[in-house]
Formats: sequence, structure tokens, C-alpha cells
Amino acid sequence: MENILKDRKYCIVTFGCQMNEHDSEIIAGMLEEYGAYAVEHEEADIILLNTCSVRENADKRFFGTLGQLKKRKQENENLIVCVCGCMMQQQHIIDTLKEKYPWVDVIFGTHNIHNFPGILTRVITEKQKMIEIWEDGGEIAEGLPSKRLYKHKSFVNIMYGCNNFCTYCIVPYTRGRERSRNPEDIVREVRELAADGVKEITLLGQNVNSYRAKDTDFTDLIYLLNDISGIERIRFMTSHPKDLSDRLIQAFADCQKLCKSIHLPVQSGSSEILRRMNRRYTKEDYLRLVEKIRSAVPDIAITTDIIVGFPGETEEDFAETLDLCRKVQYDSAFTFLYSIRKGTPAEKYEDQIPEEEKHRRFNELVDLINESSARKNEAYVGRIEKVLVDGPSKTRDNVLTGRTDSFKLVNFEGDDELIGTIVDIEITSANTFSLMGKRV
Ligand code: SAH
Ligand code: SF4
Ligand code: F3S
Repeated sequence: MENILKDRKYCIVTFGCQMNEHDSEIIAGMLEEYGAYAVEHEEADIILLNTCSVRENADKRFFGTLGQLKKRKQENENLIVCVCGCMMQQQHIIDTLKEKYPWVDVIFGTHNIHNFPGILTRVITEKQKMIEIWEDGGEIAEGLPSKRLYKHKSFVNIMYGCNNFCTYCIVPYTRGRERSRNPEDIVREVRELAADGVKEITLLGQNVNSYRAKDTDFTDLIYLLNDISGIERIRFMTSHPKDLSDRLIQAFADCQKLCKSIHLPVQSGSSEILRRMNRRYTKEDYLRLVEKIRSAVPDIAITTDIIVGFPGETEEDFAETLDLCRKVQYDSAFTFLYSIRKGTPAEKYEDQIPEEEKHRRFNELVDLINESSARKNEAYVGRIEKVLVDGPSKTRDNVLTGRTDSFKLVNFEGDDELIGTIVDIEITSANTFSLMGKRV
């Protein structure tokens, strides 16, 4: 069959988490294998919006962007508008798209991204619209190409889906049940990445701690990857506190390449709210875990996710969250206003918290988190840190940015040839969100 995708100009807009970013990299990789190439939004013949449904504002941003494409489509009837990602796994979204957004040409889900070039080819040759959504994951598609954002670092999916069903969360419905990749496939991919110049990998999964393929669990996998030469840094996300094992904590000491940072979403400091979120740990369990991690790996940076205003969250529950944050002293945290997600158990919970109350609590929490972030960063001043240089600063000329082992953002003066290398930087000053330094 003729390759109809050759020389087509595409643009992908990604909403959502690293999982989605990585899916977009794979879609881009596939399109480029067919000879298509990436351009800015305004010049594209193919526009793909890769959506997220984790909170309401993600939905809103998507519909806003899609609304703007109506005019583009009227001006250029050859423009192909495609949508994919987590929102497409929800029937009510598909119904809305069919009813109100007739300029959409292609809709596909999270389980069949590998079919996109085929779907697109049919849409172009047969001049028709197409919807292809699979309910569940099935076999994992291996060997897909990927167009990485950075030459020196890469995401690596180790598992797909989630079985945890936290009561607020839509992800188990949009990404299906947990499926782990075979360790041989992961090792092969990481070897290939290393051969291609990649120094840092970030292992991705909604709950990497429940990775399991035959006899290999997540900690075994870390030891396997730690042996691959060329790879200098290994990160992972996300860890569910209920599944983080002592063996994994031990791995931080044993595996030189495992970076000293951990993202450990707590969601709430109230054991009662945690119970109703179905998180399956208490405030005390979590604090004990943090203590265990810190005594084994004293320098480790700990970050988290917190939801404010979960249904029924009382002033006392919220005070427990503040108390937990004071005790843990996070390096940083993503804080979210609880957002009702259609189809999740918490949608039906009574005592939804009024918006202005959620905002008040949210602001109080952010102030507290910022204090501990600033304090943690301040402690870096005077230290010499190994920084993997990512690229030029977006805001300042002649300034490069990179990350420490503990994932702190560092700005320093230097030439572009340092990009992709690991350099020694003396930290000269700090603020809430980043560090400044100079080369030594
Ligand atoms: N699998 C990861 C996180 C996936 S979603 C984990 O379990 O940690 C990323 C974050 O979004 C969650 O940690 C949670 O803090 C937040 N989140 C998910 N659903 C939400 C909702 N309905 N309202 C507000 N925040 C939500
Ligand atoms: Fe959502 Fe919970 Fe699964 Fe994370 S572990 S993706 S928060 S259901
Ligand atoms: Fe969003 Fe889907 Fe990720 S809902 S957070 S893009 S898994």
C-alpha cells in the first residue's frame, strides 16, 4: 500500500502525566517512521490532542483547545483533527464529541495507540471519520519507536494500568488493569537507549511497586537495570506507599545509579480520609515509612501529591494533613483541589466541600509546603552537586538548567556543549523552587 503519511506535517499537543507524554513520544516516533515530520501548531495538516481526565481543569483545557480548531478546520478542509488519551476511554466524552464537535476526524483510546498510523491512513484514503477504542489493554505492544524530547534522558514504561481504585481517581477506568512488561523487553529497551546516548531513565507506572513479571519484582528490576553500562541515573514514578518494600529501600544503598529522590503521594494526613480514599495505609504507617526511608537514605529528597477538600474532609482532617506535612518536611509537593470525576465512587459521596473552603485550605497548605521546600533548598547552599544538564534556561540567556541526583532544578552559567553531560556545580543560592550555582 502506498505510504500516504510521507511528508505530512503533524503536531501533537499533550495534556496530562508522564505516561501521556511518553505515549505522545511513541506516536511521534511511529509517524516519523512513516516519513511525517513535526511542525508548529499553525502549520500542521494533522493535529492530535492527547488528553488527560484526572481533574476537571484537564477536561476544560482540552475542550477549549478543541473549540479553537473549529475555525482552522473551516479554513482548511484537509486538516485532520485527531483526539486520543484518557478522556477517550469515557463514554460520556465520546457522546459529547459526536454531538458537539463534528470537526473531529479521528478518536482513539489509550490501549491502541500503536494502531494510529493505520487508522490515519484509512481516514485519509477513504475520506471518512474513525473511532477506535478498546475497552482493555490486551497484549502489550513491544518494539514501538519513540521520539524522545531529550537525547540524554528517557522515560521507560515498565507497566500499564492500575488496580488500586482510589475512590477519587479516574485512572483505573481510563488505563485499565495492571499489566507489567517482561523484564527482558525492558532490559533490551534500556540497553538500546544506553547505546543511543541516554544517561538517565525514568521508569514509569501508576504504581511501580506492584510491578511483577513472572519471578521479577520491581526491586529485582532495579538491580538488573543498575548493571547496564552507559546508564548513569535511574528514577521511577510513582510509588504507592502501601507497596514500598524494605528491599527497595535497601536498593537505594546498593544501587549507585538509583537517584536519591522518591515521589511518595500521601494524598491526605487524616487516617479516616485515607480510609475513605481506599489508600490502604494510615497516617502513622506513612510516617513510619518516611522514617525508615530517611534512616536508610539520609539525603533522600521526598516529594508528594496531596488532595485538599476530599468529600467529608473536616477541619480536623485538614489539620492532620498540615501536621503530617510539618513532620515530613517535604522537598516539594503537588497540591490539588479535589475534583469530582464521573464514574468514581467518591462522585457519590455526600458532604462535598464548598469551593471557597477548598481554596482556603489549599492556600494554607501551599504556604506550608513552600516553607519546607525553601528550607530544604537552602540546605544545599555551599554543597557541590552532580548536575545532569538538560538545556538552556527558558528565561535567561547564557544560563543552563539541569537536575541534581535528588531532582532539584539548578541554574548556572555555561555553554551549550555541556548539555547532556553531568557536571559538578557548587550551589551558591537557593529559593523555593530552584537552586543557583556555578561550575567548579
Ligand atoms: N498513580 C499515581 C498518581 C496518578 S494521578 C499515584 O497513585 O500516586 C496524579 C495525582 O492526581 C494523584 O496522586 C492525586 O493526588 C491527583 N488526583 C487524582 N484524582 C484526583 C481528583 N479526582 N481530584 C484531585 N486530584 C486528583
Ligand atoms: Fe489513581 Fe490510586 Fe491508581 Fe494512583 S494508585 S492511579 S491515585 S487509583
Ligand atoms: Fe491524566 Fe491519564 Fe495520566 S488521566 S494523569 S493522562 S494516566
